[in-house]
Amino acid sequence: MASSSEGTGIDETSVSGIDGASGTLTYRGYRIEEVVRRLPYESVVGLLLTGEVPGAPAEAETRHELATRRRVPPTTERLLRALPPSTPVVDGMRTLLGAMPDLGGPDPPSRAQFLDLIARAPVVVARLHRRARRRPAVPPAADLGFAASYLAMLQGDVPTLERARALERYLVLLADHGISASTFALRVVLSTRSDLASAVAAALGALKGPLHGGAPSEVLDLLDEVGSPDRADAGVRSVLERGDRLFGFGHPVYRVEDPRATLLRGFAREVAAPDRFELAERVEVAALRALRERRPGRPLHTNVDYYGAVLLEAVGIPRELFTPTFAVARMPGWAAHAREVVELRRLVRPPERYVGPAPRPLPPGPERTA
Ligand code: ACO
Repeated sequence: MASSSEGTGIDETSVSGIDGASGTLTYRGYRIEEVVRRLPYESVVGLLLTGEVPGAPAEAETRHELATRRRVPPTTERLLRALPPSTPVVDGMRTLLGAMPDLGGPDPPSRAQFLDLIARAPVVVARLHRRARRRPAVPPAADLGFAASYLAMLQGDVPTLERARALERYLVLLADHGISASTFALRVVLSTRSDLASAVAAALGALKGPLHGGAPSEVLDLLDEVGSPDRADAGVRSVLERGDRLFGFGHPVYRVEDPRATLLRGFAREVAAPDRFELAERVEVAALRALRERRPGRPLHTNVDYYGAVLLEAVGIPRELFTPTFAVARMPGWAAHAREVVELRRLVRPPERYVGPAPRPLPPGPERTA
């Protein structure tokens, strides 16, 4: 028997727009190429949350609000200390953000909660990371911008301007991407009028899967496996021959190169060690050639993870923090989708098609009374 029902509230958003055929991404109607060159991360937070580019006073206010919210509440502090230090950071994030008492509550999420979420996520990552490495926590610095302060909390000293700017560009480019799998998970949870903490925990659960945000570090594993530019073709072939996917290539939506990949290639070139960047370029060329040969009918291009990984490595972010850093970047997008879904006031339910057996009697057997 085939039956179907229409979904509700599943496919409308005005936060970011993706045209996979032309390779266009816009935040609130502004092309990502312009956004990343002109707006600091704090302005992108304002843009995603409100729909408009903040003027100078509003940007300064958001910057100040984010800076002064960089801390974790005492209950989260206690929970953090109770987690085994070996807990993967993305799981620790899910636990700590998912249990933050002031991100819960019966009311629709507020602007203050969105800002708390965005400001606290990097603190949580840095704390979990330094604890795992048995290093003392680095207190957040209110006088640094978002990206610089994240690096300082992770690494223990104030980063160079070049590194902070490179990371900021990465954060801007990853801040939203339509109704991706993780954003969809967040939207489903909030559409039931559940709370922000539960929705972010669900989104993090979806994000950590390797087909979404869970495996950007595998790009570096690929580069390490290849080892040197002259081994690019052979290395790529051996990955494909053992049936593995080439991480950093392919996308469910883009049929041309992801515009973020194009931008990140340029930004990574500015900060990566020249030999590392050359290796990445040679592996990319080999990978694209091999994928074209194997799947001539299926356009597979470089995705955001590829040069994203090269850039993160160059700014000194350890590979186990690539997925958590993606999550940090995505918080303003999740906050904007949370706001949108709450305003839509529609329960999200996917369309479904029943493809099981038609109604039929149970096999013969004794009747059971209740
Ligand atoms: N390496 C090798 N083969 C690939 C790759 C790849 N990177 N991507 C797709 N293919 C192959 C698949 O094996 C599949 O072959 P089949 O038809 O014989 O099964 C064919 O191309 C089509 O693949 P789909 O899974 O239909 O592609 P889809 O568009 O659904 O998936 C995805 C996109 C999941 C990103 C895929 O390209 C992939 O696994 N890439 C590698 C992992 C990766 O880079 N993930 C990050 C994605 S970007 C992001 O979310 C931030």
